[in-house]
Amino acid sequence: MSQTIVNAPAFVKHTKLIAWVAEIAALTQPAHIEWCDGSAEENQRLLDLMVSTGMMVKLNPEKRPNSYLASSDPSDVARVEERTFICSQNRIDAGPTNNWEEPSVMRAKLNGLFAGCMKGRTLYVVPFSMGPLGSHIAQIGVELSDSPYVVTNMRIMARMGKAVYDVLGTDGSFIPCVHTVGQPILTEADDVKWPCNAEKYIVHYPETREIWSFGSGYGGNALLGKKCLALRIASVMGRDEGWLAEHMLILGVTNPKGEKHYVGAAFPSACGKTNFAMLVPPAGFEGWKIETVGDDIAWIKPHKDGRLYAINPEAGFFGVAPGTNTTTNPNCMATLDENVIFTNVALTDDGDVWWEGLTKTAPAHLIDWTGQDWTPDCGRKAAHPNSRFTVAAGQCPSIDADWENPNGVPISAFIFGGRRGDTMPLVVEAVDWQDGVYKAATMGSETTAAAVGKQGVVRRDPFAMLPFCGYHVGDYFAHWLALGEKLQASGAKLPQIFNVNWFRTDENGKFIWPGFGQNMRVLQWIVERCEGRGQGEDTPIGIVPRYTDLTWDGSEFSAEQYAQVTSQDKDAWQRELASHDELFAKIADKLPASLIARRKELGNKIAG
Ligand code: GTP
Ligand code: SPV
Ligand code: MN
Repeated sequence: MSQTIVNAPAFVKHTKLIAWVAEIAALTQPAHIEWCDGSAEENQRLLDLMVSTGMMVKLNPEKRPNSYLASSDPSDVARVEERTFICSQNRIDAGPTNNWEEPSVMRAKLNGLFAGCMKGRTLYVVPFSMGPLGSHIAQIGVELSDSPYVVTNMRIMARMGKAVYDVLGTDGSFIPCVHTVGQPILTEADDVKWPCNAEKYIVHYPETREIWSFGSGYGGNALLGKKCLALRIASVMGRDEGWLAEHMLILGVTNPKGEKHYVGAAFPSACGKTNFAMLVPPAGFEGWKIETVGDDIAWIKPHKDGRLYAINPEAGFFGVAPGTNTTTNPNCMATLDENVIFTNVALTDDGDVWWEGLTKTAPAHLIDWTGQDWTPDCGRKAAHPNSRFTVAAGQCPSIDADWENPNGVPISAFIFGGRRGDTMPLVVEAVDWQDGVYKAATMGSETTAAAVGKQGVVRRDPFAMLPFCGYHVGDYFAHWLALGEKLQASGAKLPQIFNVNWFRTDENGKFIWPGFGQNMRVLQWIVERCEGRGQGEDTPIGIVPRYTDLTWDGSEFSAEQYAQVTSQDKDAWQRELASHDELFAKIADKLPASLIARRKELGNKIAG
């Protein structure tokens, strides 16, 4: 394709954007270029196209109106952290927790891989806004992708379409995002249902704010507005401009008196953000209400009243399917009634979807996520453990009235939670901001199916941002500390910081804490602490509620069980501290002195 023939429609008036599309088309050599307008007609045409190629199945409209099931290649099912790069000019700026390559070297490598990579395919131009369209908080991106799956998902996950061009005008700034599945159609054999490439690169240039992704069509690897833009690139913007981009859900909690607090909670991937964001208060909590602002990403900025305000930059949920059911997450189940794209769940004989944990008994027969016949005794999982749904946030029954307010919602508390079978208590409050930053910085969690690699291994996952921080994690800790100091100096009340752990297990490996709706008991204590009311006990690791400090109406959880999920084992904590030291040694050159001091204090307290 010649560099000049990109046939931009009249509604695109941005010369630089058109020139960039021409440049990328000249490199990748697609057979066609489509400028997406985000219309319903366009969306339907692409869905129909994917059904015709076998990439998607249309679900039974009587069971699941306007919904589709996509099945990926078994090699392309999750984020690939090993292949994710932060290519800052200097290695030190990416830090020891990110993969790094010199930008010029990486550019040369990618130029080679991208040359002709879209042959035989269509290049879709996908304009999108993270944050409400045209608002002062929004960031605009344009993703060039050869995957129609990406287009239909981006339309749900971001504000996508023609209106973005109106905001961009003739010279507005945007973040260029280039994506390819990395499998040109050279022969008929290349035209597979889910094209991808064994070689993958998810690359970020933080200084020039560019994103290039090669080889995967799945989730955060391919929907570049989410992890790549709204976390890795946005975290760098936040560092430079004095705000935060975080892997956090945002929820509002209203007590029976009508008093409302918003909290931001950072849990690593597949550790319960979607569930917590849509929590339904259990019996005994009549009059309490939880409302959802977001389930994965928060942009948090200081407001002129001195408080921190958060927005959810996304427009949809890309949530984990397995384990979701009408008991664990009824709001989510209602959200999924219609207009959903499912990926890698199982297909029922009547054209609906199923996944592990959806119902107590599995259907007698399914087509599993790999397309094979499945029966309950076949020994395989019907849905992939990282199977997901993509759905508009506005469909969620618990969506908060202010979820699209560009000024955001004021945050009363930050919660950090890992998946830990031992050591970490159900909940602990930090004594102050610095202590909270220490706790978040040293958080550990077991790895999950959300990323390719071994599962169930405890690793340090600072702020649940290990795979998502676009710069040196030591600088990131310093940024959190500095922001706290600045707000404190202005006389504002800082959000209080808490750690939670829903995942303590007993000697048989079973979860002790019932979790899900029951997490309301912990959330109640958290907001009451923010109001200066809740009671707790000072322990070596922070303030922990006694059994009698929580409300147990409607619960049979015993004081003995509570002791099990809150116990502090000295040996376990010594091992935990050793693990903090390992992380700190890795980032020694940029570790804030105050965190080193906090480590010493904590060591002394635990040694008692
Ligand atoms: P990403 O979208 O990957 O960032 O993750 P997320 O944090 O939104 O994950 P999600 O809420 O979808 O977590 C799904 C997993 O967490 C499932 O395995 C759930 O069963 C489990 N989970 C969620 N809440 C709880 C809880 O309170 N207790 C227990 N034991 N498991 C939970
Ligand atoms: C996560 O892994 O934290 C996700 C899913 O939210 S993905 O968008 O695929 O990264
Ligand atoms: Mn996530």
